[in-house]
Amino acid sequence: MRISSLFSSVASALLLVSSVNAIELDVNSPDSIKKAAKIAAKGVFKEYPGDKPGGIPGLWGDPYYWWESGAAFGAMVDYWYYTGDTTYNKITTEAMLHQVGPNFNYMPPNQSKSLGNDDQGFWALTVMSAAEKVYPDPPDDHPGWLALAQSVFNSQTVRWDPDTCGGGLRWQIFTFNNGYDYKNTISNGVFFQLGARLARFTGNDTYAQWAEKTYDWTRAIGLESADYKLFDGADSLKNCTKINHIQWSYNAGMILAGSAYMYNYTDGKVPKWKESIDGIMDQMKIFFKNANDGTPNVMYETACEPNGKCNIDQRSFKAYLSRFIALTIKMAPYTRERLLPLLQNSAKGAAKSCTGLEEGTVCGLKWTESAFDGWWGLGEAMSALEVIQGTLIDEVLPPATAKDRGSSKGDPSLGMGGDRGFRDPTVSPTTTGDRVGAGFLTTLVLVAIVGGAYWMVA
Ligand SMILES: *[C@@H]1O[C@H](CO)[C@@H](O)[C@H](O)[C@H]1NC(C)=O
Ligand SMILES: *[C@@H]1O[C@H](CO)[C@@H](O)[C@H](O)[C@H]1NC(C)=O
Ligand SMILES: *[C@@H]1O[C@H](CO)[C@@H](O)[C@H](O)[C@H]1NC(C)=O
Ligand SMILES: *[C@@H]1O[C@H](CO)[C@@H](O)[C@H](O)[C@H]1NC(C)=O
Repeated sequence: MRISSLFSSVASALLLVSSVNAIELDVNSPDSIKKAAKIAAKGVFKEYPGDKPGGIPGLWGDPYYWWESGAAFGAMVDYWYYTGDTTYNKITTEAMLHQVGPNFNYMPPNQSKSLGNDDQGFWALTVMSAAEKVYPDPPDDHPGWLALAQSVFNSQTVRWDPDTCGGGLRWQIFTFNNGYDYKNTISNGVFFQLGARLARFTGNDTYAQWAEKTYDWTRAIGLESADYKLFDGADSLKNCTKINHIQWSYNAGMILAGSAYMYNYTDGKVPKWKESIDGIMDQMKIFFKNANDGTPNVMYETACEPNGKCNIDQRSFKAYLSRFIALTIKMAPYTRERLLPLLQNSAKGAAKSCTGLEEGTVCGLKWTESAFDGWWGLGEAMSALEVIQGTLIDEVLPPATAKDRGSSKGDPSLGMGGDRGFRDPTVSPTTTGDRVGAGFLTTLVLVAIVGGAYWMVA
């Protein structure tokens, strides 16, 4: 045996060892996908304290921000929808009810310090999904999932801010938080997608009008470029003339699925929505590359995986791109041929990354490495779950509407009352000093974000 071939057989033996422990996945077998999803779902709860003594229902807690917990329960609503496995329903319902806040709008006062429009919006998408997936209702005396999504939407419409940048939502809700002066794509993207989903579910066109206005604004200001790249945000103190050009996968996913909902709501008749879907599908290629083992088009977070600087939030972003690709296939079925292979290849890569720690089922961050890369946590676990379960998209019914299977109780005026977030009693009044201070800090934050970015497109 020549030395080089000895070397390669040792290498393949090592690969074999690691693939023994990886999550086994045959993307053409619903049974195999469900088994893999079950293991991935267990990984999501590996560190969850919320159902244990001393834990708070709905919160992973430090180092995970409140929003990521909301996003994770969205993954669990979808887990039930895709697999029918009710194992986590009790924890999931409890979480959605416990974190709703005193005004039923996902603004718990003790999260004010980090509560942005996007954070609130991710919880709203979770309850919106519960309404669409006909997830078991909350108790009768509690507003329905649909009503809660409407409540968040209503609380955000009044934050539309035409004073700078010609409109848009700010990132932060409260003036004292860093980022109040930043108008970002994810906050406006969630608002856009939520509006599109509420329009389709209820048939009420007011939601669609808001969605369209928001979409048009992100394009006018350049957060979405003429050729459908999605950038991170812009400084309102400079009237949004300077765009922060980092591209994150979740922004692309958010606008993609929002456009697909609008496309579906308008019955494919409004060209702008198909153009948006097609344009984003083209630009999305930057989030896919060949894996080490040759699998083509495996998802990766371009702006931070290569430099190893993905922060806690960013390590969960592939979850949302995966989730929203699957939803897009349902809302705009013509995209299936192009999008399903992206999900399937990425799911294969994700499954191969799940060889971490002693159990051999903890999933890693980089799906292109065809092995565990040493990173793990809620973001990695949720991302693996979303991409794996998303490959079941052909097996499930489309999201319901009020006319088609939907039963969730709505309330179009919930969240329209006195407290829409500005005058939260636990929040101190704004002074000019706070504003200037916050603006100054935002600039520092922006410098840090831009300075730390390895990968940007102008
Ligand atoms: C925040 O408030 C909720 C009740 O809304 C409470 O259960 C929880 O313990 C409080 N603390 C944290 C850190 O969430
Ligand atoms: C700020 O930007 C908006 C939108 O582009 C524009 O309509 C407005 O005139 C600008 N305001 C100033 C003061 O430049
Ligand atoms: C439609 O939605 C708007 C905005 O929330 C609301 O004011 C209006 O009452 C709704 N219309 C119906 C018929 O529910
Ligand atoms: C809207 O979604 C439904 C459910 O998936 C699908 O059957 C229908 O073809 C979609 N509409 C268009 C215009 O693609």
